[in-house]
Amino acid sequence: MELIKTVDGFLNWRKNQSASLGFIPTLGALHKGHLSLVRTSKKRCNLTVVSIFLNPTQFAPDEDLNSYPNTLKEDIKHLKTLNIDVLFLPTEDEMYQRTDDVNVPVTKLFNKLEGASRPHFFYGVTTIVAKLFNIIHPTHAFFGEKDAQQLYIIKQMIAQMNYQIILVSCPTIRDQNGLALSSRNQYLTAEEQFKASVVHKGLMHIKDALDRGQKNPIILKQAFEIILHQTPEIQIDYISIACTKTLEEITGIVEGAVLVSTAVFFKAVRLIDNFTYSSL
Ligand code: PAF
Repeated sequence: MELIKTVDGFLNWRKNQSASLGFIPTLGALHKGHLSLVRTSKKRCNLTVVSIFLNPTQFAPDEDLNSYPNTLKEDIKHLKTLNIDVLFLPTEDEMYQRTDDVNVPVTKLFNKLEGASRPHFFYGVTTIVAKLFNIIHPTHAFFGEKDAQQLYIIKQMIAQMNYQIILVSCPTIRDQNGLALSSRNQYLTAEEQFKASVVHKGLMHIKDALDRGQKNPIILKQAFEIILHQTPEIQIDYISIACTKTLEEITGIVEGAVLVSTAVFFKAVRLIDNFTYSSL
């Protein structure tokens, strides 16, 4: 595994490569979810590049940028074991020194769901992902389904910007109790993580009700809220049943493909999860 810290260093490496190249952008604090993206890239592509960059522009001033888990030593160990080709580890200056204002296309998806609670978030994500795509020049990019809205927005950005990149979405990886893996789970004790698995149980309750033919979004969401209220440490930020294309909330009956998604606070820790359901 080569460790490259500069844009010029990466471009230099890249110009000698013509094989398919899978790319996994990360904020670091790698967990089994990230590692499964790496394994999928290794299967699909000749070369695999991972970036670790804690991107400041996707954090609001009151969020956890300064306390975000940093496990760089372990991350490097895992990536070496998986035998990736390059770990791109740029500094903030390296990523942002050449431009102070970058505009990527904004879509109506930006201010829905996660964007409603974190208005800065998708501006920061698309800016950094566009810059990374321009540097890494991947043939394939691997993103996890846990961040469903991010996945939709990156898909749109690839189309709008004419990036010649195949976007590969990979299933959410869960712990033994169903909690979706996230770097932020490290903020919770084992007992709290067990309690937080109620988020997945609540979502699966909605799925079971949909399977049984319940199509009223109000009733479906109420069932989730009742289950979650049994864990007083959890505050629901939102529970949404939305159209997978527009992310508009379903107000009539649930039909076609929908994204059922939620964000909750477990004390101060923000956790998200979702599933896609198609009644067709
Ligand atoms: O999903 C993430 O970890 C981040 O949003 C990403 C895609 C690495 C951009 O900083």
